[in-house]
Amino acid sequence: MDRWVFFDLDGTLTQSEEGIWKCARYAAERMGFPPPTEEMLKKWIGPPLLWSFQHLMGMTEEEARRAQEYYRERYTAAGKYENRVYPGVRSLLRTLRAQGVHMGVVTGKPEGPSRDILQHFGLWKFMECLACATDARPEKEDLIRSVLPETGAEVWMVGDRRFDMEGGIAAGVHTLGAAWGYGSEEELRSSGAEEIARTPWEAAEKLCPGAERPAGAFLSMEGLDGSGKSTQMERLTETLERYGFEVEHTREPGGTPIGEKIREILLSRENMEMTDMTEALLYAAGRAQHVRERIRPAVATGKVLLCDRFLDSSVAYQGGGRQLGVDRVLEINAPAVEGTLPLLTVYLDLDHRTSLRRRSAASELDRMEIQKEEFHARVEEGYHELIARNPERYVVVDARSDRDEIAKAIAEAVLEKLMAAE
Ligand code: TYD
Repeated sequence: MDRWVFFDLDGTLTQSEEGIWKCARYAAERMGFPPPTEEMLKKWIGPPLLWSFQHLMGMTEEEARRAQEYYRERYTAAGKYENRVYPGVRSLLRTLRAQGVHMGVVTGKPEGPSRDILQHFGLWKFMECLACATDARPEKEDLIRSVLPETGAEVWMVGDRRFDMEGGIAAGVHTLGAAWGYGSEEELRSSGAEEIARTPWEAAEKLCPGAERPAGAFLSMEGLDGSGKSTQMERLTETLERYGFEVEHTREPGGTPIGEKIREILLSRENMEMTDMTEALLYAAGRAQHVRERIRPAVATGKVLLCDRFLDSSVAYQGGGRQLGVDRVLEINAPAVEGTLPLLTVYLDLDHRTSLRRRSAASELDRMEIQKEEFHARVEEGYHELIARNPERYVVVDARSDRDEIAKAIAEAVLEKLMAAE
């Protein structure tokens, strides 16, 4: 028998208060009303706008209509994207799709913004139908009925408010309460929810018992010292989380307790007598631990694992900088990584002279950073050789551009790759 799952949008797939609250504040300001309090905003999501402007902000009906215009103006321009996909929702949708379940969205929002939001956040591709409220058809029950399959199928309505549960029951379908949204567990239970899930993954387990979690992805960030990797790791994480990806950070050398001890040996200026081969093997040893203890398990549980430096650093620094050679370093690392490579690597392109200038301005230099200029010139060359060998694995961005521009370029390329892999 066919299975269908309909999802509510606000509070179930996406957490939309940021845009809604900013628009409510904007409308109040334009109307010359005092800014809404936290208490008012908490009650804002759910009831119709006109009602909220009148009963929560104390406007007359005429004022509320004008406020609604201001609200919509900002919502259409920006507010609809000031939104977040709940963590775990992407895994839930991927799991249902892999099990052959048909999916759709049934929402109290108008069609334009609903479709824009689903497309913007890359959720549209999972959906086979969309039912949106209109003035003539505001009730969830009717919306559900409008997309019900004709022949006998098992159908579920998943939503976070009583309207979703009551609408589902009235339309004769199964109901699952999304307790991660705006409605409380109590509200969902008392309105007759057949099942309740506290997280999207719990919903996947109830809808498809025994289904495996879809794999996440492994990404790395590379560049010369001082190229701004840490800032860009943070920025990328913020964006990916907004899209509902569950991100975990790690770094090399390090990332595990053993790896952090190896890091100390590698970076300490007490160890100036270390041979180039010892150095290459220590980086590889830390990596062997990291791949098994941290990277593979995170990817297996659906995480996007974002690693500050990986194998490419060894190729550039030990292969190029120390002149061990690209192929030699790859050989040494083969048993450490055993085929575990990033889906995509962000390379922050900075010439070694600028890197040197930025480095010298920073705090105390470590054993790698105090190497001569020629060393860093060879590291830079090493990276360029790697990228030329395998261009499709890299996103190359100019590290001297404006931070916001760099963040935007990285986010676009990474999102495209991750969504294509879903
Ligand atoms: P770190 O303080 O993490 O530098 P950054 O903030 O620039 O990433 O130090 C890591 C140093 O180790 C850096 O100089 C690059 C070097 N390195 C290698 O030489 N080989 C490797 O395989 C890795 C992972 C790092």
